[in-house]
Formats: sequence, C-alpha cells, structure tokens
Amino acid sequence: WRPGDEDERLRRRMSGPVKVRVPAKVNLHLGVGPLRPDGYHELNTVYQAISIHDELTARRGDTLTLTMEGEGAGELALDESNLVIRAARALAAHAGVPAHARLHLRKQIPLAGGLAGGSADGAAALVACDALWGTDLSRDELAAIAAGLGSDVPFLVYGGTALGTGHGETISPILARPVTWHWVVAIAEGGLSTPAAYRELDRLRAEQAAPPPLRNADALLAALRGRDPARLGRALGNDLQAAALSLRPALAETLKAGEAAGALAGLVSGSGPTCVFLATDGGHAERVAAELTASGLCRTVRTAYGPVPGARVG
Ligand code: C5P
Repeated sequence: WRPGDEDERLRRRMSGPVKVRVPAKVNLHLGVGPLRPDGYHELNTVYQAISIHDELTARRGDTLTLTMEGEGAGELALDESNLVIRAARALAAHAGVPAHARLHLRKQIPLAGGLAGGSADGAAALVACDALWGTDLSRDELAAIAAGLGSDVPFLVYGGTALGTGHGETISPILARPVTWHWVVAIAEGGLSTPAAYRELDRLRAEQAAPPPLRNADALLAALRGRDPARLGRALGNDLQAAALSLRPALAETLKAGEAAGALAGLVSGSGPTCVFLATDGGHAERVAAELTASGLCRTVRTAYGPVPGARVG
C-alpha cells in the first residue's frame, strides 16, 4: 500500500465511462490433437490479433445490463448466456464486488465467424469492468479468469502473436522483432458452430487408419522470425480447415478466388467460415480485397493488419 493508491482507486471508481477496444484473432497455425476426456481437443496453435475491433463501453449502474449495435445485433442473446455478462459476473465473484454495470457493445467482428468475436467481447468485459470497479487485476489474473470462460478468451486479454497450448487457453507470448503482417479477411454469409467443426473433424479422422499426431508450430514460428511473407504463407496451416470445407464446400471457391486474386496464401480462420489471405503489404492487400469483392463470393471483404494489442482501455 502506498499513499495515493487508494485515491487512484477511488478516482477510477468515481469516473466513467470506460471504453475498451478488443481485436479479432486469426490462427496462423492450428494443430488439433485427439479429443480429450473433458470434451476439448488438445491444441498447438499460433494466434495473431488483427485490426478488426469490437468496442465495449462500461458505465456505472445499479444492476448488470448489456445492449449492443452493429454485427449480429438482434441475433445475439444479451442475457446471462452472453460471454460479456458471464465475464462480468466471473470478475465480480473473483474480486468480491457487486456485478453492477451498464455495458454497451459495438460489434464489427462477425458472429460465429472463426475470428473469436464472442471471446473478444468476454475479454473486453473483463478489462472494462476491472477498470470501472477499480479491482486493478494484472493481465495474468484476468487471463486466469478468462480461461474459465472459453478457450480463446485468455489470448484476447493479451493480444499480439502468441502460442496457445492446452485447449488453447495457455498462452505464451511470442517475442519477435516487430513486423506487421497484412491480411485480407473474407467474411462469409452466416456462421459455423465451433463444436460442430470439431465434431466434423473427429468424424473425418475416424475414417482414417490412424489419427494424425498433434502438429507442432515449429515451421510457422521459424517463418515468423524470418519476416518474409512468402515463407509465412507457405507455413500457414489449419487442421480444422478440412472440417470447415466439409461443412461448407463453397469455401473452397473463396480460397481459390483469393489465391487467383494474387494473395500469397489463404486459409480458413479457426473453425470458419471466415477465410484469411496473406498479402505482401497494405497496397497488395487492398488490390486482393477489391478483386475478391468483385467475385461476389463473400458477404464482406476487409483488409487488416497484425499483430495488434489485446483488450485495452482507450
Ligand atoms: O472453449 P470454447 O467454449 O470456445 O469451446 C467451444 C467448443 O468447441 C467446446 O465445447 C468444444 O466442443 C470445442 N472445442 C474443442 N477443443 C478445443 C476448443 C474448443 O473441442 N481445444
């Protein structure tokens, strides 16, 4: 305790609103191992946070409420099942404070898109309520609470580029010299359910003689250190892609169209149906995006860059 600490906490508690920006994620490598007894698959994944953001505003209130606008408004349940509400309640229980806040979400990350939009909002709620309530937890403490909310939530507390192990919740930041990678993000009509994609992968693997071993991320990590987009393009890989393509065969057309438009490489993001394409620089990304848009195969095409920070106030 230092004199002034208490003043700082009080000042934060009295002030408001708190605005938090949180990014989407892509998996540059997603190695999926066998189904575990707890219902999760063992993962070896490399996450990157990219510049498509949701924004959560937290204000003082007498109860806990959530409103929203943007992507998925009217479709997403705003009740106790919503990850934002679950995150706020988990933080309040951990810190021993009442879960009182008025939360408003502005969404740009599509629902069930394979970009971890729901998980991002959960991470944003932890960071926003921590600031609003003056509970002042460290990133590591917030990530520990996040691990109880969903596999991707801890990564979005940190952001950047990181290795994910366990079922995705154990995060080791990758410290590399700063390089910005440029992406084209092809958002499909409708979503895909993550559990359904994992079930489809299990079904496809059951048809094979022996399940493949868990693929490590060594080649991808070496390519990141090499700073060469063409090499990174060759190292990208996602074990869930076969499942996403099996559930949504039209995605094969999107992947072909992105590569025909000149992208270095393309892959399905997480459990899909969003596809992401690597470009050499921002101008190249704009050109690929324009051509993909003209193909008419996607609902929306955006450009993005990464890595960017995780959930942050301001
Ligand atoms: O952790 P999260 O709630 O996002 O996971 C949703 C579902 O996706 C899980 O219930 C599980 O069916 C599947 N999953 C999995 N293996 C993982 C992560 C998720 O099978 N590593």
